[in-house]
Amino acid sequence: MKDFYLPLIGLFLFLHPLMAEAQNTVKLLPSEDAPKISRHIYGHFAEHLGRGIYDGLYVGEDSEIPNTAGVRNDLIEALKRIKIPNLRWPGGCFADTYHWKDGIGPKEDRPTVVNQWWGGTTEDNSFGTHDFLNLCEQLGAEPYLAANVGSGTVKELADWVQYVNHGGISPMADLRKEYGREKPWNVKYWGVGNEMWGCGGNMTAEYYANLYKQYATFMADWSDSSDLYRIASGASDDDYHWTEVLMREVPKHLIEGVALHYYAVIDWNNKGTDIGFSEEQYFQTMQRALKMEELIEKHVAVMNKYDPEKQIDLVVDEWGGWYDVEGKPQLGVLFQQSTMRDAMIAGATLNIFNNHSDRVKMANLAQTVNVLQAVALTEGEKMLLTPTYHVLEMYTVHHDSQLIPVEIISPEFIYNGESLPALSVSASRGDDGNVNISLVNIDSRKGHNVTIDVSNLEIETLKARILTSEELQDHNTFEKPDEIAPASFSGFSIRGDELEVALPPFSVVVLSEE
Ligand code: AHR
Repeated sequence: MKDFYLPLIGLFLFLHPLMAEAQNTVKLLPSEDAPKISRHIYGHFAEHLGRGIYDGLYVGEDSEIPNTAGVRNDLIEALKRIKIPNLRWPGGCFADTYHWKDGIGPKEDRPTVVNQWWGGTTEDNSFGTHDFLNLCEQLGAEPYLAANVGSGTVKELADWVQYVNHGGISPMADLRKEYGREKPWNVKYWGVGNEMWGCGGNMTAEYYANLYKQYATFMADWSDSSDLYRIASGASDDDYHWTEVLMREVPKHLIEGVALHYYAVIDWNNKGTDIGFSEEQYFQTMQRALKMEELIEKHVAVMNKYDPEKQIDLVVDEWGGWYDVEGKPQLGVLFQQSTMRDAMIAGATLNIFNNHSDRVKMANLAQTVNVLQAVALTEGEKMLLTPTYHVLEMYTVHHDSQLIPVEIISPEFIYNGESLPALSVSASRGDDGNVNISLVNIDSRKGHNVTIDVSNLEIETLKARILTSEELQDHNTFEKPDEIAPASFSGFSIRGDELEVALPPFSVVVLSEE
């Protein structure tokens, strides 16, 4: 959609009472006690899966595609623009098959293995620990290493920690220096296994809790800052028993975070396709996506029982939409296009995380490039940024800002007799003192007028941007990479203590104080 139409559409909806309903209110309730929204909620995830690493992030040092140490420059720049705070690697399910020593030393000497979970492809280990950690340094992102518990050993993990974090003389630090890296990387974030109830080993929560304690005990903290952050492999969806067992069994000195994985999937046996979905499937996807709020609240209720002081964080280290691709999907590739539906998932989910930032301190969208709800897609030299990317870029205003709690009376998004709240909101105040408000209208048919009570905030002037399009299925293509991009938005006005915003159907709007 052309940028210049958007302010006109906003103004039209704002003035047209039949197209946009009134009396939907939002109250902003600033409080000194409100938590900071950790920028790590805006984290990413890159697995050795399909074209995620090879032919995605990493094209190799000899590629004609402009790269730095084998990683495509256009992607590095794009990720820097969304201020990528952390990157989880090497999996996913792949993590519990990964033996990190396969990926160090001269590339020609690295062994070739089979990628068991993702299509049985050949993994030549040319992208390994140094490649990943150096990339994170370049991105200014914290690395989050997911360690192998399912098919690894306690010693293998203890050695990995020593290899990347030990600053003195030790067997692993000496090996690291031999392979060209003098200083340690001081990696803080460590996942102790992945999906241990499934691809990580099909364990019970009780068995894993014991195993977790054993692994975590031997993860010596060699880092300069002595702040190793160990994340236990968490529950899937609504498996509250899993969270209960970990919280009950693992002593607090051994754990900093508990994970949760949740994907917005209509039906695991019939996911629907990435582009050719119906309005009904859109509604079902949003039903699943909004369930994130209930899941967080219920897992947090379990955590509160054992940890009322909130010493242990909830880390949603895999989330996003998951569909089938049009045509014949390739085994274990998980490539999908990203449409306006994905922008709705991203905007609403990030608002949920922001509003629960007292306990949700970290999250990782699955997965960065060419896999699932990616922020970028590549084809040879070409790269496109998805609608999801643009939502993340618009929401950078919330990184490390203080949450402003909100109360919402939402209009309904009604489809076939069922309804969902159409409106999702979160707000924060940055270090510069400016207020930022992100609003999402997931309603595929109707625009909604929203009245925001800003009486406690002394807002004078605001600027706004919008992400929307004509059709829910719209997406960027390699031929037309900029069809969907944020545009400036004027469909709002401030009258005294009230801010009125006219949200077009399926749109994300971010208002920022100037
Ligand atoms: O993100 C794809 C896969 O989904 C991950 O490897 C796994 O952890 C999850 O089931």
